[in-house]
Amino acid sequence: MPGWLAVLPIITATRLLSKLMRGVVLISGSGSNLQSIIDKAADIDLTISCVVSNRSDAYGLTRAENAGIPHHLVEHTQFDSRTAFDQAVSKIIDQYSPDIVILAGFMRIFTEAFAQKYCGKMLNIHPSLLPKFQGLNTHQRALDAGEKEHGVSIHFVTVQLDGGPVIAQSRVDIIPSDDAISLAKKVLIEEHKLYPEVIHWFTQGRLQLKDGKAVLDGKAL
Ligand code: GAR
Repeated sequence: MPGWLAVLPIITATRLLSKLMRGVVLISGSGSNLQSIIDKAADIDLTISCVVSNRSDAYGLTRAENAGIPHHLVEHTQFDSRTAFDQAVSKIIDQYSPDIVILAGFMRIFTEAFAQKYCGKMLNIHPSLLPKFQGLNTHQRALDAGEKEHGVSIHFVTVQLDGGPVIAQSRVDIIPSDDAISLAKKVLIEEHKLYPEVIHWFTQGRLQLKDGKAVLDGKAL
């Protein structure tokens, strides 16, 4: 028997014994970030317990279905207040007792109560180099502002919209021929690499929110 074959059971057992963290992923759209997390879940010590969408036409729901992940639709249009919507989403999240709540293109503004409830274990991905271009239409706004570079940020979610401590960023160059569509494509490529990596830092216990700062391996970022 080749030597490498002998260590296979050890690697498998180690993988099974290692504690996977439970994550709930919130989406509103295509779910390409969700897909990148699904594809790498085993490598980043994550079990995706469920996916929640606020939109029935979100293709991410199909991705969850294809991956055999429980998924829920909570349409914000069915609620007469943000509080009522947040409470409905929260009720579903809590059924799964997640270690981490992952916002992956979830396009709703939360109430303070919701943000506070999951503070320290809720991450968001935003398509700009924060603090630049918080909010919507980030790619066009970066072009209009004449930026030479653009990118993606991953941050802890706090009560400030797109304002929580930044954990990591990835940059792309803006070239003269870029439009909002080409720029979005370039940024998405970076998103799909960066988000699983940051989630892995969290599931390894290396990343925390401490005193309002993102801390990796004991050092403020
Ligand atoms: C991504 O570009 C993500 O950064 C952005 O929505 C897109 C979702 O794409 N998030 C935000 O704008 C949050 N403010 P996806 O559904 O294909 O993952």
